[in-house]
Parts: sequence; C-alpha cells; structure tokens
Amino acid sequence: MSRAAGPVDPTTTSAWSGLEAITAEFIPDLSRWFAEDPGRVDRFTFEAGDLHVDLSKGLVDDEVLAALVALADEVGLTERRDQMLRGDRINVTEDRAVLHTALRLPADATLELDGTDVVPEVHDVLRRVYDFADRVRSGAWTGVTGERIRTVVNIGIGGSDLGPVMAYEALAAYRHDQIECRFISNIDPTDAATTLSGLDPATTLFIVSSKTFGTLETLTNARLCKAWLLDGLAGHDQAEAVAKHFVAVSTALDKVADFGIDPDNAFGFWDWVGGRYSMDSAIGTSLVVAIGPERFAELLAGFHTMDEHFRTAPLTENVPVLMGLLNVWYTNFLGAETHAVLPYAQLLHRFPAYLQQLTMESNGKGVRWDGAAVAYDTGEVFWGEPGTNGQHAFYQLIHQGTRLVPADFIAFATPAYPLKDGATDVHELFLANFFAQTRALAFGKTADEVRAEGTREEIVPSRVFTGNRPTASIMAPELSPSVLGQLVALYEHITFTQGVIWGIDSFDQWGVELGKQLAQQISPAVAGDEAVAAQQDASTQSLIAYYRRHRQ
Ligand code: F6P
Repeated sequence: MSRAAGPVDPTTTSAWSGLEAITAEFIPDLSRWFAEDPGRVDRFTFEAGDLHVDLSKGLVDDEVLAALVALADEVGLTERRDQMLRGDRINVTEDRAVLHTALRLPADATLELDGTDVVPEVHDVLRRVYDFADRVRSGAWTGVTGERIRTVVNIGIGGSDLGPVMAYEALAAYRHDQIECRFISNIDPTDAATTLSGLDPATTLFIVSSKTFGTLETLTNARLCKAWLLDGLAGHDQAEAVAKHFVAVSTALDKVADFGIDPDNAFGFWDWVGGRYSMDSAIGTSLVVAIGPERFAELLAGFHTMDEHFRTAPLTENVPVLMGLLNVWYTNFLGAETHAVLPYAQLLHRFPAYLQQLTMESNGKGVRWDGAAVAYDTGEVFWGEPGTNGQHAFYQLIHQGTRLVPADFIAFATPAYPLKDGATDVHELFLANFFAQTRALAFGKTADEVRAEGTREEIVPSRVFTGNRPTASIMAPELSPSVLGQLVALYEHITFTQGVIWGIDSFDQWGVELGKQLAQQISPAVAGDEAVAAQQDASTQSLIAYYRRHRQ
C-alpha cells in the first residue's frame, strides 16, 4: 500500500477496527489454550541472536497476532524501520537522522549520511577511545603526580549516565580489578560529595559526559569536581592537572574546550545519536575503561546482532516487533497502563531504570510527529526490580490486584557467580523462582484447588489466583557483553516499534524542557530575590518561603 507523507493515525486502519472487534469477544484463558493447543509454546517461542523469547504466556492467540502484524503493515512499520536504518531524518521535530544502529556497524560496512560515510568516523572515535582506555588500564596514563589512575568518575545524567552505569553493574564480572568506576549524575550536591568521598585526587580521572555540554547538572558537577581536584592537588600546575585528570565526551567539542578540557582529551559523537541511545558511543568510555576494548567490541557486536535480526526477520518472527506489538495490544486494547521488567539477575539491577529513560522519554508523547493530538494511549509506565526482591515487595499486586501488568521476565542459564548452599546450587533455587512466577501468573489457582488444600471457606476467595496475567520470558546462556548488547538493542527496537504504531517521534524529548527553563527562572528567588519570588504562583511562593525559613 502507498504511504501518506505524514504518520498514519492507527485508529483509522482496518487492522485497528479488527482488533477492537476481537477485543469485544476476547476471553483470555491460558489454561485452556495450553491444554487444547500442544503447539502453542513452539509457535510463540522465538530466537533472536542468543536470546530465547517465550511469548506463549502472553494474552495472545493467532488471530490477535495476525491482526497486530496487519496493523504494523498498515502503518508502514518496515518502511519506517528502513528509513531509520538508512539515515532518513525521522526525528522530525529536531530534523535529525536516527542512527544509533550505525554505532555498531562493522568497520567494513558503509552508511552514507549527507554524502559522507559515517562508519569510518565511528571507528576512528572508537579507536581513540580504545587507545585511551588501554592506557588507563595499563597504567601508562598517569595523573599529574605520576601515579596510575585507580578511579574513573563519570559525570553525566540521563543517557550520559544510565547506560554506562547500568552496563558497568551488569558486567561486573568483566571489570578491571584495579580500577573502580563511580558515577555522579544528580545536581543534589550529596551525589558529588558522597561519590568523591574517600577518593585520592592524584589517582582519580573524571570523564565529563554530555551530548550537548550544556546540561546544568553535569556542568555544575564538573565544576565541583574540578575544584575538588585542584584543591587536592594544590601546588601542581592547574592546567596540567586538568589535562591529566579530565577528559570529555560530547558532540559539542567547542564547549568542551571552553570548559578547559584539552580537545585532544575529548571524544566526539554526532547529533544523530539520541542521548538515551548513546551508551554504545563514546558515552560508554567509562565502561570501556572498566571492561576493556575487546569486551566493549563484543557488546557492540551483540547490538549489531539484534539490529540485523530486526532488519531482516519477517515481522511474524521478529522478536522486537512482536514484543512491541504485544505492548500496543496490552496498552490500547486490554487497558494496561504499566509494564514491569523483572530481571532474575542481580547484575541487571539498574536495567529497569535504564529502560525507563529509553521507553518513557521516547514514547511519552501526546502528539504524532505531524503535531496532531493522539486520541489513544501511548507510552506505558515502565518499572521493575530484580527478582526475587520484587516478589517480596510488589508481586502481590501483579498476581491478585485489579490491574493488568504485563511483565518481562529475564534470566540467564549460567550465573556470573556460581555459589552453593551446601549441596544446593543457589542459582538453580533462584531460577526455580523465575519459572514459578510466570507459571503462577499464567495459570493461577482455582477456588477448588484452594479448597482441596483444606482452606477455610471464608478465606478461599483471598487465596484464589485468577491467572491470565501476561508475561514474556527472555532467556540467554549467560549475561555476557554480547548478550547485554542484544538485550539493550531488543528494547530499543521494541520502543521504536511502539512509536511507529502510535505515529509519534520517539527521538525528541521536548517534555523535559519546561522544567529546566523554570528552574533557571526560579533560581534567583530561591537565593532570596523577592521580586522574582513575587512573580511565582501562590503555591510556589509559599514553598520557597518555607525553604527560606527553614534553611540553616
Ligand atoms: O533529560 C533530557 C536529556 O536531554 C536526555 O535526553 C539526555 O540523555 C540528558 O538530558 C543529558 O543530556 P546531555 O548528554 O546533553 O548532558
């Protein structure tokens, strides 16, 4: 079918009408579906790279899936995907290409943007980052006193923090054993104070990571750290101290120089990399120092594996597409408002936080990319915690509450740290919980089953589990750098798929601007400027007054 120049309103498609008709009659019954359909697990289980993805415990049948794929066809998902991958300016409101996938193309690939092949540029920067990381890791890069670097502090926020810190935690088993990375993001001075606590300036190196190099939090923290460093290294030449203890990652290399960082110590990237899609650019420099260039290259190869799957697999077998479409089904037809991501891997404890920016900054939009208001729900609230901690906190609501909470469960066959409790392999105990939870959510427990356990009749209803609570199970052999790359790329493309169905620009983030502007405007009032305070609304005036009365 030919595509209109603007986004398609998905509610005008025949597939959407078909899905509405299906919804009206839809009675999910996973117990029956499993009993009557021995092929269900095979049909709804997919492989993408090293990821094994079982969607059979989702609230989906063949008819729903076919209608969702038809919806993807009608809104032009594959065309939009191909536009992204070839560098069309699909970030319409910022008039930019969206090419994070170019960051992980192999060196012998080519991708022309405005007449220039971007792949050699990507690999030039990678080589410089790798060389820098090798020097820090080997001790060849020394601080101003001649000592080797022991701590790398990444200063950044949002996409310039969440990706590196998530991956640093996830790949703990691969870290250099003599170099620690720390991360400062919040403008709450407590963050800088506690992160710097106990560090020796002579052995500390700062990486100021900011795409724009204009972010208030990051520049303030960078200045705090610079002052801390120069104070601790008093007596040494200041310019030399900054040169040996500060590097920067940014697209705005002129601003890096203005800050006093030697351009030779700066690593660039490009406006076609969105902040929340940038952990595989030079923004990952702290991670490269931690795990080394070879492992980082494996991470990039993992991303690329998933990109290739997304680019080439038919929609009916395309895991990110199918998961994105299911999310649309749950959001727009079954009324889900949130989506839980539950890694059964302690090392992924920052993964839900990382995904919150990826998904919610991308798809939390109320207008399509041509500016027309949407008349349907978009971006769900993503949240989560590692299992089994979540089991003892919020799973009650997922099992028995009144809301539908689709959940992704993630687990690995081989643990990073195999430990035994006597004869018991603790990882197996852990995985038993992973398997048990999705089973309980899918199939529940009937009143008769509860009664058969001898339960008092009055409390039988409280002990019934309705089941039919949808989950996706994602498994991989182990949490290696490559698998982490595949996992992140999977969610990038799930997010993209949802954005295309909804017709929104998943790559801008205008919604964070107003708060930033107002903070600048209100700042003098907080410091005591009565005239500026008087311009605020009554509630804000009252809150500022409270602050000024109580500040010691
Ligand atoms: O929160 C808005 C945002 O622009 C994010 O998209 C971005 O990741 C973050 O701020 C940090 O921006 P920068 O890397 O330019 O400092």
